[in-house]
Amino acid sequence: MSTSGKASSRTRFEKAPRRSLFRRLDIRLPWLKLVLLCVVGTAAILDLCDLTISGTGDPTNKIRVAPMASHVRATERVLEDKKLVALTFDDGPSATTTPRLLDILSQKDAPATFFMLGSMARNNPDIVKRAKREWHEVASHTMYHQNFARLTAAAVQADVDEANSVFKSILGVAPALTRPPYGNSTDGVRKVIGTPIILWSVDTLDWQSRDPEAVVATAMSQVHDGAVILMHDIYSTSVDAVPTLIDALREAGYELATVSELAKARSIKLRSESVYYNFRP
Ligand code: NI
Repeated sequence: MSTSGKASSRTRFEKAPRRSLFRRLDIRLPWLKLVLLCVVGTAAILDLCDLTISGTGDPTNKIRVAPMASHVRATERVLEDKKLVALTFDDGPSATTTPRLLDILSQKDAPATFFMLGSMARNNPDIVKRAKREWHEVASHTMYHQNFARLTAAAVQADVDEANSVFKSILGVAPALTRPPYGNSTDGVRKVIGTPIILWSVDTLDWQSRDPEAVVATAMSQVHDGAVILMHDIYSTSVDAVPTLIDALREAGYELATVSELAKARSIKLRSESVYYNFRP
């Protein structure tokens, strides 16, 4: 009796613990467990992909989008009856100075237009995406910064095609505006480029002075309603000038806009092969 009693108590003991949900499903519905695992696994993978695609490795990234969204609402409301200027930055994006400039523009809730080189964009695709995501205008400064006025039509075409393919691969679209290097173009070059040509009316000469105070002083001495201000985001001294310049422009009553916003506010329909220096009222 005692032996059989021990045996039966052991049997009761072994049966006693409740099996986990998965173990019970495994026995009764093995396919259901598989479906549950697939659903959970897919959700985890999608979550991971979202982080990889939308993130730039910058933890403050998401915070910066909000102020620019408010900029869009603000400018839609007031652009038409304001004094306007467009800040434009050539020759980037640089891996070091351009993100710092984007931080400043975000803090100041200020839009800009970037005339990027395809060769630089190819090396810094995340910065190109970030500029567009934060409501700036991304335009082309060609692929290799060659003097188009001295190239054959075939060489210009090759450069333009390569730049377009770089920007398309990063942003999904080719740039709608172009600033040829040194502002140089001919009728033939403009035909090959095939977009409106945007030059400038205020040259800060930032590449020459490499002095933030001189950059601000030069810009403010020449600025006018509808001005397109030329700067270069590859120089840290130029980026240093931006907070003061934005404050000075706003104090003088100017609202900042991208080139396309500026043209639209002045009811100017940008046309391919045409050259624009400014957008005076
Ligand atoms: Ni340039």
